Amino acid sequence: MSEELNGFEYLCEYNDLKDSYGQRFYINDVDVAAFKVGEKIFAVSNICPHQHAPQIYEGFVENECVVCPLHGWTFRLDNGNLFGGSKGLDVYETKIINGKVYVKVFKKELNW
Ligand code: FES
Repeated sequence: MSEELNGFEYLCEYNDLKDSYGQRFYINDVDVAAFKVGEKIFAVSNICPHQHAPQIYEGFVENECVVCPLHGWTFRLDNGNLFGGSKGLDVYETKIINGKVYVKVFKKELNW
């Protein structure tokens, strides 16, 4: 991996992501939901903290938030917080280089 990637892993081509739809990826065993909203790319944990369902990527996207399809918990895509402000999803840094999207994942400390 080149120096400039510095811990970032290849995710997909920028054009593979459809506006306001999520896609699921596994990067280094981390379950990632990636979204394109306008020009922005967001990558968050795909695991909903409510019942630990791996379905965030199927959530409805609105106003840079994603709604878990199971029970409607709503998370901001920029910081992962629940709509009310408390901590929700892990958020992973992304960057775009030459039309390719890269993400820097980390593993969650499992404590459930
Ligand atoms: S599992 Fe996501 S809101 Fe219940």
